[in-house]
Amino acid sequence: MANQEAAGFDGVSDRSALQEFSVSNSESFWAAVARQRLSWIRPFHTVQDCDLSRGEIKWFVGGQLNVSVNCLDRHVHTCPERVALIWERDESGSEVKVTYRSLLEMTCRLGNLLRRHGVKRGDCVTIYMPTCPLAVASMLACARIGAAHNVVFAGFSAEALAERIRDAQSGTVITVNQGVRGGKVTELKKTVDTAVQSCPAVQQVFVAMRTENPVAMTARDVAMEEEMLKEDVVCEPAAMDSEDVLFLLYTSGSTGKPKGLVHTQAGYLLYAALTHRYVFSYHDGDVFGCVADIGWITGHSYSVYGPLANGGTTVLFESTPIYPDPGRYWEMVQRLKINQFYGAPTAIRLLLKYGDEWVHKYDRSTLKTLGSVGEPINTEAWEWYHRVVGDGRCPVVDTWWQTETGGICISPRPSDADAEIVPGMAMRPFFSIKPTLMDTEGKVLTSNDVSGALCIAQPWPGMARTIHNNHQRFIETYCRPHPGYFFTGDGAYRSKEGYYQITGRLDDVINVSGHRIGTAEIEDNQCAAVAESAVIGYSHDLKGQGVYAFVVLKNDVEVQGAALCQQLNNMVSKKIAKYACPDFIQVFVQRLPKTRSGKIMRRVLRKVVERDLDGVGDLSTLDDPTAVQEIIQGHGDLC
Ligand code: WTA
Repeated sequence: MANQEAAGFDGVSDRSALQEFSVSNSESFWAAVARQRLSWIRPFHTVQDCDLSRGEIKWFVGGQLNVSVNCLDRHVHTCPERVALIWERDESGSEVKVTYRSLLEMTCRLGNLLRRHGVKRGDCVTIYMPTCPLAVASMLACARIGAAHNVVFAGFSAEALAERIRDAQSGTVITVNQGVRGGKVTELKKTVDTAVQSCPAVQQVFVAMRTENPVAMTARDVAMEEEMLKEDVVCEPAAMDSEDVLFLLYTSGSTGKPKGLVHTQAGYLLYAALTHRYVFSYHDGDVFGCVADIGWITGHSYSVYGPLANGGTTVLFESTPIYPDPGRYWEMVQRLKINQFYGAPTAIRLLLKYGDEWVHKYDRSTLKTLGSVGEPINTEAWEWYHRVVGDGRCPVVDTWWQTETGGICISPRPSDADAEIVPGMAMRPFFSIKPTLMDTEGKVLTSNDVSGALCIAQPWPGMARTIHNNHQRFIETYCRPHPGYFFTGDGAYRSKEGYYQITGRLDDVINVSGHRIGTAEIEDNQCAAVAESAVIGYSHDLKGQGVYAFVVLKNDVEVQGAALCQQLNNMVSKKIAKYACPDFIQVFVQRLPKTRSGKIMRRVLRKVVERDLDGVGDLSTLDDPTAVQEIIQGHGDLC
């Protein structure tokens, strides 16, 4: 953090002192930052009121503000013609720039339209749209009128969408007629039509036009752009309490049911803004290029809320890394003069296979910082990103965080823009974050050069507050495993120097191309031929992890392996999304290795798939050890 800001705290003169100060005086730190960086309707009277062991988290109590005012109006006052969004449409070279003034206008019209259709403070609006300015305006319009948004990734199936709409008790959906990605058209409105058939609470669907192709409209549907034109460009912002809900975002956990994590207004926005500025060294006037989809938390915090709260210019990327060719990212960097590029290791691994020419073809001299997110970045990908993409001149920041944390918690240069960076390591905690490693007995590991379960020892403003309609699950998942600490579900190693390296999930969540999936969500598919199944993640060259399924058929079933696999894949893509489909299915499994209490021993299955038979370890707790032999013998029977 800049020295002049450090100077605002007694006895704090430089960045490393500020880092220490923020950990030991987290309240004073955040109070000062909140007063300085957010625009309040009413000041808060209590900085925080938190009890991690009960999952009770409140920040900036008594304060009132409006998130859309913080993201838009205050910048319109100072620099109305500054570009807020650059929409990098799927069709390369056809970007659309949206100024702060026009984004505010769009947001206000939409806010008024939603209000006119009865959307009230506290209601939940589901947004099923590709990454585009109208999606951002929809999020901000909800924030303006005090409704919560629930963005559902537009790659999710109708069933997955319906489940999220129902769980969120959402009565309004916003979508587009069709999506366009990688040159392919997807029928998003039709998917919504199918989904809402099983969502009786949905009263209205707003439909924007991404393509010119007309789409069948029902009595429930509203032509969004047409109706927006009839609305006023001024929309009174709601005065929201700091702890009112800003949004729900569903993510996978270790049971079959996705959980709707809840983020609130002030703390989330402040944390997104501060991390955006310091982790990436974002300066006024920079063009920030986060290529995540707005359907994920990365899109929320670093395509939308962080950059806009900072008055920045942010790129909305609608396409894929290889459309129309593997030079897409770098051609875009050149054309839009991107200064910070933030992407996922899976894309970097894919691109490096296409060779350096695709990168060298384009001028990347505007790049200052390269960011990585979502999964571990292996050394080869890190080196290539650094040496080829960044010409060895741009720091690569590997950022660790989660939907639950709201923003980046560990990354190499959170406070000191010159700090040393070790390849493939997230390294250092952000201001006020106190990472703690636990051993298997739940004791705090105090030394260095150790691995353990990664917890965070004190609350921070950006953390999720609860799981929608299920606070008990929130407590059990994050607060109960290590009372008094927030448990992340990840494992980490702390090096001799005290730097953190994430080692991966400790639960039954896998990470496929940076997307979180609960193995239970895939196993949950009902298929007439299948008695039971077990899904595990295995190491995959491009995707980070691939999906491997073991399937036990019912006794009397006569099926062809290939036909069955096809059927199972169709079921998974219908229930969840294409990316969740197994890469391998081992079908003719007689039984699964289980403990005597009936728990599937995934550890054993993982070792079989990794062909590490020596590593299978102690099988004495297995109900029937011959199950393992059968699986090893059947390991070739894949489809
Ligand atoms: C994993 C994405 C290693 C981790 C922002 C975490 C990472 C999960 C990293 C959250 C990283 C995220 N290195 N692993 N830099 N960043 N992860 O909720 O397992 O989609 O728990 O949030 O991704 O995924 P989520």
